[in-house]
Amino acid sequence: MSDSPLLVTCGLPYTNGPCHIGHLRTYVPADFYVRYQRHLGKEVVFICGSDNHGTPIVISADQSGKTPREISEIYHTHFDLTFKRMNIFFDQFGMTDDPANHQRTQKIVQSLIDNGHVYQKTISQSYCPKCSMFLPDRYVEGICPHCGAPARGDECDQGCGKHLEPGEITKPVCKVCGGNAELRDQEHYFFRLGDFSEFLENYLSELDGTSNARNYAIGWLKEGLHDWCITRTLNWGVKFPGNDDLVVYVWVDAPIGYMAFTEEWAKKNNGNWEQFWRGSQPIIHFIGQDIIYHHCVFWPAILKGAGYATPHAVVASGMVKINEKKFSKSRGNVVWTNDDYLDQGLPADYLRYYLLAYTSHTKELNFSWKIFQERINNELVDTLGNFLYRTLHFAANKLGGIPDGEPETEISERIQATIDRVSAEMEHYEFKNAIDEMMSLAGFGNTYIQTNAPWKLIKEDRQAAELVILNCLQIAKACTLLFDALIPEKSQHAWEMLGYTDHVASHAITEATQGFAHTNLPKPSILFAKIEDDTLTILEDIMTKRIQEAEMNENTKINENTETQTDERISIDEFGRVELKVAKILSAEKIEGSKKLLKIQVTLGDEERQIVSGIAQYYTPEELVGKSVVVVTNLKKAKLFGVESDGKILAAGDNASLLMPGDDVSPGTKIL
Ligand code: MSP
Ligand code: ZN
Repeated sequence: MSDSPLLVTCGLPYTNGPCHIGHLRTYVPADFYVRYQRHLGKEVVFICGSDNHGTPIVISADQSGKTPREISEIYHTHFDLTFKRMNIFFDQFGMTDDPANHQRTQKIVQSLIDNGHVYQKTISQSYCPKCSMFLPDRYVEGICPHCGAPARGDECDQGCGKHLEPGEITKPVCKVCGGNAELRDQEHYFFRLGDFSEFLENYLSELDGTSNARNYAIGWLKEGLHDWCITRTLNWGVKFPGNDDLVVYVWVDAPIGYMAFTEEWAKKNNGNWEQFWRGSQPIIHFIGQDIIYHHCVFWPAILKGAGYATPHAVVASGMVKINEKKFSKSRGNVVWTNDDYLDQGLPADYLRYYLLAYTSHTKELNFSWKIFQERINNELVDTLGNFLYRTLHFAANKLGGIPDGEPETEISERIQATIDRVSAEMEHYEFKNAIDEMMSLAGFGNTYIQTNAPWKLIKEDRQAAELVILNCLQIAKACTLLFDALIPEKSQHAWEMLGYTDHVASHAITEATQGFAHTNLPKPSILFAKIEDDTLTILEDIMTKRIQEAEMNENTKINENTETQTDERISIDEFGRVELKVAKILSAEKIEGSKKLLKIQVTLGDEERQIVSGIAQYYTPEELVGKSVVVVTNLKKAKLFGVESDGKILAAGDNASLLMPGDDVSPGTKIL
């Protein structure tokens, strides 16, 4: 192992929801990079953990009746397992709520205070008089003061993407009760971020990684830096030193997690964490483009202010989108890593390949199952898989193993040239280009075997045919070693088909040009199965249904919101336009693929209607039959999950308690 280890980290996932494939664009490329560096003989410490603090987690915990710690542990385990299923293995996967991080954060904040970078100031902050609480970050929603888009308390997530300071958001509304918030004075602590402009200018000009990270950050610097409020009124988080009523803002203690987890790793492995955080060994952060500001502005300033080393590189991916839209659980624009992909029986390596090979790392990736299918089938199956299978099949079946001798120099040179180009691309975090180089070696192998046709040659000149296959086997070995970082499970399988019994991961890339010391080959099998059209349909259906179901939820939410938020009253005439009638339920059944919807037939006395209603979680179809309910009968028809709905059944509250008239009212009776 080398004596110059690298530290690679990944953006820490929040523990308030499951892993989606957008998240993976941070972790898969980092894992690819780490594995490749290890093949080059570099020692790498690969660190991640879960981000447990902040308001989104408190809100999710409240909603699910759990404590923030409980919900954090659930999702921490979920991410840990999901990463392993995706063949991503960290040397340490910690939690920001663990003692190591509480201690390190308090130490760092104390150093910032001692070094004069923190001051106290009274600010006006959003406060909800109804809930009697201050509304930090996501507890408040309103309008972005910079661009006018709807925004959350700490971030303009749908508009300009700017970070918002407490009290900055306009027209603030309390997320808990929906009421209007007001501004109240409160003491908070501020970090003198403005003092770090010059330092950051120099730092960023030398920062390695992807150019988007550097360029965005330099742009923000030019707009001028404002001091940064680093405390929140919340009782979940790291206590602010000397003021137990406040916790530090989550974006202070989250990146400090990188350091705390390195300490945890060092403790367990007799390693040295200070060589990175106080020394000069490189630190490389892998993140998504959405958190560049935090990593390229806040974080280096904190480290500098507290007297620690600063990271060497920030590698930021473009965002993954669906239908050109941001990932959104509430809008159904999401593909879950477990439910929608791995649990459908698809190999982790296919998704790893698609995420990295599809487009340049810094570009946006608009996810599509169709393109996923095309890329896997054309490249992994038809190019790489085909080449490996043809070579191995011929060698095992026709030659009885690996022929003696050395591959031709021309072949070794072609392999070496590929390795050099791949390594250069990896050095610049141009992952797609690196993979294109690897794939072109497999393509070269395919053309080579095709033009030299050993199946014909063997009939005239066995020795010549053996040399062709030996050349092909050498290329196959090189491909396996090169692709191992990207598709480790498949590469291990290929390695074994090449007659090895150990782990391909433990071999250096330099062995790609070294010959074979063994001759036996096992019977080869198909490495990559095609993605069939039937599978594609299943995957696409899951995605469409998610979106439809979310639209349905969104509609009910919009209805609820208009009910609670309009101040304007309607006239009796307007109310009179709504036709309400008593209806009796004749039958009800579940709608396939939807957890929430029921297809219900009702009678209005002289007429039967079909109504789709989102009450499946509260009633079984059987218990509904025979009930008298209230229905809005003059709504425009709608289609939900492809099923027509002609009317709306009225229900009250979170548990959808049905509005039911007395037994003596017959179906069809108008409600006046
Ligand atoms: N907790 C913060 C990161 C703190 S790092 C000190 C966070 N968490 S996250 O769960 O929202 O995201 C985890 C990682 O996934 C981040 O690197 C983030 O950029 C990345 N992505 C999350 N959604 C993404 C897409 N839709 N597309 C690409 N990357 C995305 O941010
Ligand atoms: Zn904005």
